[in-house]
Amino acid sequence: MIIKRPNDIKPSDITAESIYLNRRQFLRAAGFTALGVAAAVTSRAWGAKETPLARFPDLKKSPFSTDEKTNSWEDVTTYNNFYEFGTGKDEPYRRARDFQPKPWEVEVVGECDKPGVYGYEDFVGPHTPEERVYRLRCVEAWSMVVPWVGIPMADVLKRFLPNSRAKYVKFTTLLDPEQMPGQRWAVLDWPYVEGLRIDEAMHPLTIFGIGLYGRELPNQNGAPLRLIVPWKYGFKSIKSIVRIEFTSKQPVSSWEKALPREYGFFANVNPDVDHPRWSQASERRIGANVFAARQPTLMFNGYGEQVAGLYKNLDLRRNY
Ligand code: MTE
Repeated sequence: MIIKRPNDIKPSDITAESIYLNRRQFLRAAGFTALGVAAAVTSRAWGAKETPLARFPDLKKSPFSTDEKTNSWEDVTTYNNFYEFGTGKDEPYRRARDFQPKPWEVEVVGECDKPGVYGYEDFVGPHTPEERVYRLRCVEAWSMVVPWVGIPMADVLKRFLPNSRAKYVKFTTLLDPEQMPGQRWAVLDWPYVEGLRIDEAMHPLTIFGIGLYGRELPNQNGAPLRLIVPWKYGFKSIKSIVRIEFTSKQPVSSWEKALPREYGFFANVNPDVDHPRWSQASERRIGANVFAARQPTLMFNGYGEQVAGLYKNLDLRRNY
């Protein structure tokens, strides 16, 4: 995010579709059937060592889903921000294919009565996954519509019995430069850290993302467990979470620490507060026709009716 401004995006960044088309041509030339292509595009990272992504049976639909047209699987899984695998949009899907999201553990610490280290299955198992089709608005002024599979964060966090001093929740990504080659460069102060106020974390729109398009999360999208908080800029939605801390102090998130004038703790989508280097009034929908007009950005990314009440006493210009 430091590196590119939206109007600096070179055509070479918009490689997702051409790489995908080349891959299809390759598969066709190699004699793969249509079914073979479908299997390939739903594998963890389209690499040689492909592990099929399991499908969630009978997903519950959610009244919180938008009926806007969703982005394609290719858009969602080849145009990514995941600096642990490189800063280019196509690097996460190319470089995350060997990443091992299983087995996985999540450490829960801090102001709660049930801290502990929970295996992924114990963490997620008691909950019924549902589909949540949400808009995702990146601070870089592009957007997508993603059919996530998730579980309500409130239901999970309540199991750890947060106490009255738990005013915030801090999330941390795995630190493993062997598996995450981007962590060998000091682009950010690793590991990636994010935080929410406890009422934001407990809001019904906030989910732990565990899949997309009805399947397990691909590595490049933050396997096996990430945050999704759709009214905030995408950088709040931290990927590959290994640690959750209930705390009385407001955590300092990675982007806030790197560039405090540009990225704040709240990071609510707000068309009236520009980024110091670009306007936030409009956005480019990934996958749209190249001649399509940019679309206006909506306050709280269009989720104002549900979330504006969380901020009634907050100056959103100062608390960006
Ligand atoms: N989480 C980690 N650990 N590292 C990252 O670089 N990028 C963030 C967020 N979560 C990021 C991350 C940003 S800037 C965005 S826009 C979203 O992930 C992108 O999610 P997606 O690639 O699934 O679309």
